[in-house]
Amino acid sequence: MTELRSSCSQDSNARGPEADRIFTSHFNRFALDSSTPASVEILDTTLRDGEQTPGVALSLEDKVRIAQMLDDLGVDVIEAGFPRTSKGEQDAIRKICSLGLNAKICGLARCSKQDIDSAVDAGVNYVHTFIATSESHMKNKLKMTKEEVRSRAVEAVEYAKSRGVIVEFSCEDGTRTELEFLKEMHIAVQEAGVDKINLPDTVGTMSPAAMEYLVSEVMRVTRVPLSTHCHDDFGMATANSLAAVRKGARQVHVCVNGLGERAGNAALEEVVMGLLAFLNVRTNIDTRKLGMASKTVARLTGMPISDSKAIVGNNAFAHESGIHVHGVLKDPSTYEAFSPELVGMQRNIVMGKHTGAHSVKEKLSEYGITLTDNLLADVVDKIKRLAESGKNVDDAELVALALHIAGQVDKERRHVKLKEFTVFTGMNITPTSTVVVEIDGVLTRSSDVGIGPVDAALNAIRSAVSKNISLTEYRLSAITGGSDALCEVTVKLKLNGDQKVMSVGKSIGSDIVLTSVDAAMEAIDRLMARQKL
Ligand code: KIV
Ligand code: ZN
Repeated sequence: MTELRSSCSQDSNARGPEADRIFTSHFNRFALDSSTPASVEILDTTLRDGEQTPGVALSLEDKVRIAQMLDDLGVDVIEAGFPRTSKGEQDAIRKICSLGLNAKICGLARCSKQDIDSAVDAGVNYVHTFIATSESHMKNKLKMTKEEVRSRAVEAVEYAKSRGVIVEFSCEDGTRTELEFLKEMHIAVQEAGVDKINLPDTVGTMSPAAMEYLVSEVMRVTRVPLSTHCHDDFGMATANSLAAVRKGARQVHVCVNGLGERAGNAALEEVVMGLLAFLNVRTNIDTRKLGMASKTVARLTGMPISDSKAIVGNNAFAHESGIHVHGVLKDPSTYEAFSPELVGMQRNIVMGKHTGAHSVKEKLSEYGITLTDNLLADVVDKIKRLAESGKNVDDAELVALALHIAGQVDKERRHVKLKEFTVFTGMNITPTSTVVVEIDGVLTRSSDVGIGPVDAALNAIRSAVSKNISLTEYRLSAITGGSDALCEVTVKLKLNGDQKVMSVGKSIGSDIVLTSVDAAMEAIDRLMARQKL
């Protein structure tokens, strides 16, 4: 862990407060480069390339909400859409332009007057115009020569400039374009007055080292700020974006959660944090809002992110194994590169099959609960058993479990023990349960039916123990939300004819029937202890 910048164009003391709270490998300083700018602009294309994600179709209201959220996040340029594609698209862009956001609002346009007019007429102050320049795209898609492509680009840039907007130009499929032609295009559009040139890795086919080479080459002729637009077909979009910035790019195109065509674009949250952590490059993004931005976009687009997604995934700051939890509780930097608060996330100590007594003890102490070592071992054992059946335990469930175990009579010391239990249920059959109960060393087998599996089980237990018991109350509640939440069952029993002899049993578990049976057994045992049945 180290101070990041050492031998580059920027002052080595210029790390911002966020970068100082990121604990990266000390080897990163050997990769600092004098071509790297101190800060870059972020062009977010969630509403354009992101909306091209298969399965995503945003309503006008959703687009407006995302634009407002991006603006609040600190995005410099919002690519709000491709206005020429439909009237609906143009209306949404017009609405976004009317919001008076701080970000520049950009519309995508092919190199055609109609496309540029559609964008400018929708109210944008920034046009991103593009034409393909790779051999294959020119030949197979455009059916145009190099000269035709160049003059179309020049005309488009000149026309867009004449309409009074900021103009960014992209050679589509730039990273598969002949280098000399790519440079010629950059020179030509600069002479036409372009404000920014973007280098798209349209099919995501670059490696970071190749990106560094290509950016260094085009920077020889590029006098306006260079931008980059990386697709993630090989999972390299973030790395390639960082490589481009390392060699001098001053803007990066991104999408929240890495949305976009096919495998998506570089993810905003990864690029922003990667720039800060590895290159000490600042952006205007308020990193504390990244978590919320990710959740908003996931919800509105209906594209959930993976739990293990970098920076904003549910597990990005989750710790389960005893060793990790122990380390993080002592000093978070042992297993966290930066604190979750920096990106608007929360640390999550997960109780699962790798949980150790140390983390359970620490977690319970946060809630003012102290257990003896034996009880703590019982809680850990229960957590592990639940985890083996696929259920991780959250804080509320842990507290309930600990209080339950702390208040329980040792099962081995009970007078009434359940030795066997089965229940049959389904459609068009009467739920039937069979139990074997040991009462003070004597085994009794009994079967009974009920209106459901819980009822059948409780009736079978009563038949085995005593018909003189009746159920006065049965309460079932989920401790937290979710279909896999732990449930808490309370069973109240009484002796027939004697209102005063009552007993309560409680249990917590993941299976409603087993938990109900356990609660009933506890209540029966207590009743037995107080009254000879
Ligand atoms: O991927 C791409 O090349 C694009 C262009 C429109 C820049 O999205
Ligand atoms: Zn793209």
